[in-house]
Amino acid sequence: MRSADSASSPTNGPNATRPIRRVAILTGGGDCPGLNAVIRAVAKTLIYDHGIAVYGIEDGFRGLIHHNARELTARDVSGILALGGTILGSSNKDNPFAHWMTVNGERKQVDMSDEVVEYIERMGWDALVCIGGDGTQKMALRFFEKGVNVVGIPKTIDNDLRATDMTFGFQTAVDTATEAIDRLHTTAMAHHRIQVVEMMGRYAGWLTLHSGVAGGADVILIPEIEFDLDVVMEYCVRRSRKGKRFTIVAVSEGARPRGGSMVVAKIMAESPDPIRLGGIGHVIAETIQERTGLEARATVLGHLQRGGSPCSFDRLLATRFGHVAAEMILRGQFGMMPALHGQDVVPVSLKEAVSDLKLVPPDHALIRAARAVGTCFGDVMPN
Ligand code: F6P
Repeated sequence: MRSADSASSPTNGPNATRPIRRVAILTGGGDCPGLNAVIRAVAKTLIYDHGIAVYGIEDGFRGLIHHNARELTARDVSGILALGGTILGSSNKDNPFAHWMTVNGERKQVDMSDEVVEYIERMGWDALVCIGGDGTQKMALRFFEKGVNVVGIPKTIDNDLRATDMTFGFQTAVDTATEAIDRLHTTAMAHHRIQVVEMMGRYAGWLTLHSGVAGGADVILIPEIEFDLDVVMEYCVRRSRKGKRFTIVAVSEGARPRGGSMVVAKIMAESPDPIRLGGIGHVIAETIQERTGLEARATVLGHLQRGGSPCSFDRLLATRFGHVAAEMILRGQFGMMPALHGQDVVPVSLKEAVSDLKLVPPDHALIRAARAVGTCFGDVMPN
């Protein structure tokens, strides 16, 4: 068994002494565009270039707990490059280290990780590819520490995974949200309204920041910068007085007022990540209308941001990540994931990737550029 800190460098697991013959893949957490592109790249590289058998585990870690897997042929992964979702299914409700079960009529969390490791050994899988965001990579690291030959691949529309400049799925979500802002612009202008658009992003505002700037939102509210609603309202009123009779407010679901808290939509008690946010957009729109008399509407983009075909950037990034992940398996670089560093895709340790979330620095260059063109971030009044 390896020591835990060996995750920081390329490492051979217990199975690595024998040649790699069978590799399993899972997609965990919230889906995002590009998952199928990455499955295709891993599987085709392993099958075509190395004659390795590839298995697909169904519905993320749930499939490992319930033993649901199937062999993936080259044909199975053909024609899926542009397809949204994941042909393997995903789940953000299952944690093999704390699996909810009914024991003697009582709901309890049970550690199923040893059974999962036994299942992996029984299936003869020499390596496991875990495609996912922060939650999935944390579990992947724990399996690596238990001796499984794990390679992670970073995905999420939130772009909040440390150790990579970008995750695939993010750019497509930015494009979708930007198009939504463009469309909301025309109707807001026609009706002289304040149009609030709520986007995903619980702790990191990357998606709102990028699409907000790209769509020319007048106000951008992100979790990293607490806002003052009085500033936002004053800004809307000033615009109106200047003859700009509409305002677009882009807000992350995790944005919160100074000294206040996030708006929680529901708590999913048995999920490894139980908080689901939602509702801040409506709170802001209703308050603005009530207090300023300006007509306001809210639109929640929600899961629209995760659906659909990946943009070309995400298809390319997913293909590169998948190819490098396959090569890492053959080189025995386990406990690691491919990451984008500048123009290059390089292996980085999972430990570094999950150390903490990558948040937007409040002095980020894009924030400075947006402030310079008059965008309001809800903290201070723009000049
Ligand atoms: O982590 C990805 C994400 O899309 C978040 O941005 C969002 O808060 C959450 O998942 C939504 O989760 P669910 O699909 O369970 O509603």
